Amino acid sequence: MTKDVVLTDIFGTPFSLVDKRQAVSENTDKIFIIKPYLQLGRHFNEKPGSLVLFFHPGKKYRGKDWLVQYRQPSVDGDNWRDASLSRGRLRLISGKRHWRYRAELTGLSAGEPFQYRVVKAWTLVFSGEAQAPSAEKARIAVLGDMADGGQASADVARAMLASRPELLLAVGDIVYDKGLVSEYLAKFFPVYNESVGSCSVPFLSSLPLAPVIGNHDIGTPGQQEKPDFDHADALGCCKFFESPRGNLGLKRKQLKKSLSSRRAAFIDSLPRGFFDTANYSFSWGSIFVLVLDANRYMDWTLPALQRFVERKLSEAPAGAWKIVAFHQAPFNDDFKYAGDQRMRVLSPLFEAAGVVLVFSGHCHYYARTHAMRYGLTTGAVEKDGSVAGTASFEKDGKRSSGGVTYVITGAGGKLVDRERMPGRSDYVAFLDTSRYSFSLLEADANKLEFKQVDKDGNVIDELVLSFNHPAEAEQAPVAASAQ
Ligand SMILES: [Fe+2]
Repeated sequence: MTKDVVLTDIFGTPFSLVDKRQAVSENTDKIFIIKPYLQLGRHFNEKPGSLVLFFHPGKKYRGKDWLVQYRQPSVDGDNWRDASLSRGRLRLISGKRHWRYRAELTGLSAGEPFQYRVVKAWTLVFSGEAQAPSAEKARIAVLGDMADGGQASADVARAMLASRPELLLAVGDIVYDKGLVSEYLAKFFPVYNESVGSCSVPFLSSLPLAPVIGNHDIGTPGQQEKPDFDHADALGCCKFFESPRGNLGLKRKQLKKSLSSRRAAFIDSLPRGFFDTANYSFSWGSIFVLVLDANRYMDWTLPALQRFVERKLSEAPAGAWKIVAFHQAPFNDDFKYAGDQRMRVLSPLFEAAGVVLVFSGHCHYYARTHAMRYGLTTGAVEKDGSVAGTASFEKDGKRSSGGVTYVITGAGGKLVDRERMPGRSDYVAFLDTSRYSFSLLEADANKLEFKQVDKDGNVIDELVLSFNHPAEAEQAPVAASAQ
């Protein structure tokens, strides 16, 4: 029987299709295991103006009668474009397979908002809107150690959304405690992609999330050397994220059924095989971002990996603001993570390439160093995780000698234990251990503004860089630091 389905989408546009089958009639909350969410996608760098939309319908709603359409009102008027839609089978929790759908939204005009809608069986089941990356301007939120599913995570997300970013750079420990699929389903998607009570601030459908892989994301909350495969649903990040270098998943040979063989394949492939897709770069407006995996299995003293960093940074467009993001903070005074500062070995490469900011999390507070250079003594990582060297910087706020500013933005959902507060090295310009916060970057070709914003929307620290960077850029006066 033919049935007319007439709806109005969230943009007020009449939506009418003729259903030749049975229209979906249930609440959309029941249709999706995970509602639609945006990712940069593996073609982000090669196809300017492309983003990817993922969604995970329940088993009952699998099928080929899904449709994703999108439009940019300034370009398309009332006309919708069909997205290229594909699907792949996925095992989320042991024994339960379902299909993950992937829609490619291509040809988006730079800097323009776009709308999309998801249709199942000729019925509108989801609508969303977001912003295509601009060619020049950029507004990026940076947030670490975010998802424990509590009120603080939601409060920071709410303040972050109020700052109207176009992209979220999540600098690791995306989900506690072991990055399990079951933890994503309990603490991440309900907070950031659902509307289920006071602890939910949905934004993943309108804000692409670029993931950085932290130690919790690979199941190593205790800082062990190797990822934990003792859970059948480990490595949730592999199921949900796609970087500009590809699906953040295990390679086929590593997807063997046996946990022990999976673990062996993983270890065999280190340091360059596994998670090579977790090391990626992309441009968003005038900001060039290099994301690195800083977990212990990665040996960044290897010449091949250092060449990778040099090559990626050299690929940045002329005049772009270069930033780097990885999880384990190379300059921290956290008693817990003194042995996790091995990424200092890359500091000379960052300085030579003109990197202006390096973002990390791991430590559950906010800290910013002066713009600094780090002269390596030997370039080796000692057994205790230290990297010998000398920091040079100027405290007067001038960047006349260039250098890199290191930011720890790890107060996105947890705060450091009040009984075991961090120390404060002399290169630290600002330290705040008492407030939940996130970082905000706003840039155009001439200026880069950095702000640290607390969960109530207060700016607690800021920095302005202007061209010619890095050699002649200046810092804003450093505000009084908080402890
Ligand atoms: Fe961490």
